[in-house]
Amino acid sequence: MDDWLDDFGCDNMARSVENWFDKWAKEYDEYLPHFPVYQKIIKIVGDNANIEDGAKVLDVGIGTGNFSFSVFAKVPCDIVGVDVSSEMMKIAKKKACDIGANVSFLNSSADAMEVENDFDFAVSAFALHHLREDGKLSAFRRIHSALKDGGRFVLADVTIGIDGDVGCEKRLKHILERWGYEAQYALKYIGPDAVSIALGGLKGVYYRDGEYVETPQKLKSMLEEAGFKIVKCEVPDENIGYHVFVCDKR
Ligand SMILES: C[S@@+](CC[C@H](N)C(=O)[O-])C[C@H]1O[C@@H](n2cnc3c(N)ncnc32)[C@H](O)[C@@H]1O
Repeated sequence: MDDWLDDFGCDNMARSVENWFDKWAKEYDEYLPHFPVYQKIIKIVGDNANIEDGAKVLDVGIGTGNFSFSVFAKVPCDIVGVDVSSEMMKIAKKKACDIGANVSFLNSSADAMEVENDFDFAVSAFALHHLREDGKLSAFRRIHSALKDGGRFVLADVTIGIDGDVGCEKRLKHILERWGYEAQYALKYIGPDAVSIALGGLKGVYYRDGEYVETPQKLKSMLEEAGFKIVKCEVPDENIGYHVFVCDKR
């Protein structure tokens, strides 16, 4: 098993996430982007991204750029990608060069990012569940103030059906079922090697105090508290527990 799968138990949550993605970076594109549900989410975001040529787009947790480049490559826009992992962004930078996308990068955590306030559209896919509740709220507020009036934010992230900390037996059972489903999903759509990644993800969730995965209701109220109006919420696959919130700046 690769060493990045064993990188848990780090006291510092932010450093643990950064290390995990720095080490995973080279293999990341062999996993999530192969999930049919990920492709569905790309379509949902594309359908709800009311952007025009020259729009300014913020991608929070841009990773290797897969998501942003799939959605926005067709529309010439200026993308700013924010991420804690410099290794993930290194891959995104290379891809941006290869496809001629106009992207600038900021190595920062979403809850502390300093960006301009002239964005037309913002997206964050599978990134913000790594932050604690106060961190998420701070990230949502920063995204809100980065958007122009009438700007739109689409949040796609992992959710969980039950609130509580990792010691809550009912929630833990739910986490085990959810990641068990993801492991089987990975086996079906990618192959045996991908199962270890899903199990590595489960370890992350367990050891990082439940990974702070929220219920959809909690995410919704945090988005509203940050000043967003939720115009749509889609669930592309009930079992895997992903939610997509389409929100407009109030
Ligand atoms: C699962 S990847 C998703 C990447 C990309 N959005 C995609 O859909 O392919 C999550 C990314 O979020 C980044 N990330 C995690 N916590 C973050 C935080 N607090 N602030 C910014 N980026 C973060 C990770 O480094 C990683 O690149």
